[in-house]
Amino acid sequence: MNTIIVKTPVTRHLGELFSKNGLSKKTVVLFDENTRNLFGSELLDLLTEQGFQWLDLVVPAKETSKSFNTANKLYGKMILADVDRSWNLLAVGGGVVGDLGGFIAASYYRGIPIIQLPTTLLAMTDSSIGGKVAINHPLGKNLIGFFHLPRLVLIDPAYLKTLPMREIHAGMAEVVKYGFIADRDFLFRLDRHFSEIIALEEPFVTDAIRRSAEIKSDVVEKDFREESGLRATLNFGHTFAHGLEKLADYRYLRHGEAVTIGMVCALSLSHGLGYLNREELDQGVRILRKFRFPHGLVQRRFLGESSESLLEYMLSDKKKLDRKLRFVLLKSLGSAFLLEETVEDHHVLKAITEAKELFKKALAC
Ligand SMILES: NC(=O)c1ccc[n+]([C@@H]2O[C@H](COP(=O)([O-])OP(=O)(O)OC[C@H]3O[C@@H](n4cnc5c(N)ncnc54)[C@H](O)[C@@H]3O)[C@@H](O)[C@H]2O)c1
Ligand SMILES: [Zn+2]
Repeated sequence: MNTIIVKTPVTRHLGELFSKNGLSKKTVVLFDENTRNLFGSELLDLLTEQGFQWLDLVVPAKETSKSFNTANKLYGKMILADVDRSWNLLAVGGGVVGDLGGFIAASYYRGIPIIQLPTTLLAMTDSSIGGKVAINHPLGKNLIGFFHLPRLVLIDPAYLKTLPMREIHAGMAEVVKYGFIADRDFLFRLDRHFSEIIALEEPFVTDAIRRSAEIKSDVVEKDFREESGLRATLNFGHTFAHGLEKLADYRYLRHGEAVTIGMVCALSLSHGLGYLNREELDQGVRILRKFRFPHGLVQRRFLGESSESLLEYMLSDKKKLDRKLRFVLLKSLGSAFLLEETVEDHHVLKAITEAKELFKKALAC
């Protein structure tokens, strides 16, 4: 499956690493404007020193770069530079660059290897692992894509030093999610060392990233094409989060912020349907209270909206015309499952309303 290396500095022996993994030293390096400015010169100099032939490509640092239009422009540059099947592609950035780079690698010349060098916490722990690569369609996010596993995932937590705090919290949502769904001890370790991880202190941050990457890759290995329901557990909190993101027009909430709120709702629903006991619900919520949001964001984007309109947005997805929502619930902290039965709307509304109450209490503290 994925070869994942977590190390600082991870790029020192890149040439050797590529050779060992059967990769040529002909590499298209994809950045966004920010990662090109921050890390581009040093990385490209290093590739030159180590005997690589490279082509660097840069896209705007926005979600809209995950488009067919951008991909098409990049194919053109690659064709003009004589990039053929003997090349590979190294994606240096967050999930946007990783997804776009993976999409291009999966399709160019019927597929060239993709190597991920993630530089956001979300990309290190989630999007770079598992081989789902996609671009957006005007009718929906991530609808056009492939399963194209990375040949190598190179994770260096030192890249996070320049990442804005808001992005760290957003990435941390997925990290805590892994604790909720698969590893109770890890969840409590994250609880104890939350502030050290957020401050990027070692060894806490590397431990958090390494364990997250392990959990994700383990789940993906067991259920690559999302058939048994196991991979679906990675979507804990996400049914609510997708509704919230849509409600916030995909602009005002970072994905991880929506997931944090979504996990409070999912914990409430797990309790409301009789799976999670009250004590564990309270413990889970106490951990999620450690997350910080920009001032007023939760009030505007969650508490200020009616529970009914959030449910409408959750249901408004084209794929859900049968009005069936799928929920991942917890039996206990560290153990998740995909609920097969349909949940009646009134249970969902109750969970949202309870989550709001929990947030109000948290904000009042
Ligand atoms: N393929 C998957 O399995 C999967 C899973 C989850 C999310 N995703 C996708 O990931 C994308 C979101 O990824 P993201 O949250 O990493 O966002 P992103 O790629 O937009 O990065 C966030 C911002 O941080 C900047 N940045 C990146 N690294 C930096 C660094 N080290 N220092 C300073 N700034 C840096 C970027 O330029 C960007 O402005 C979405 O498109 C989502 O659909 C994919
Ligand atoms: Zn997510």
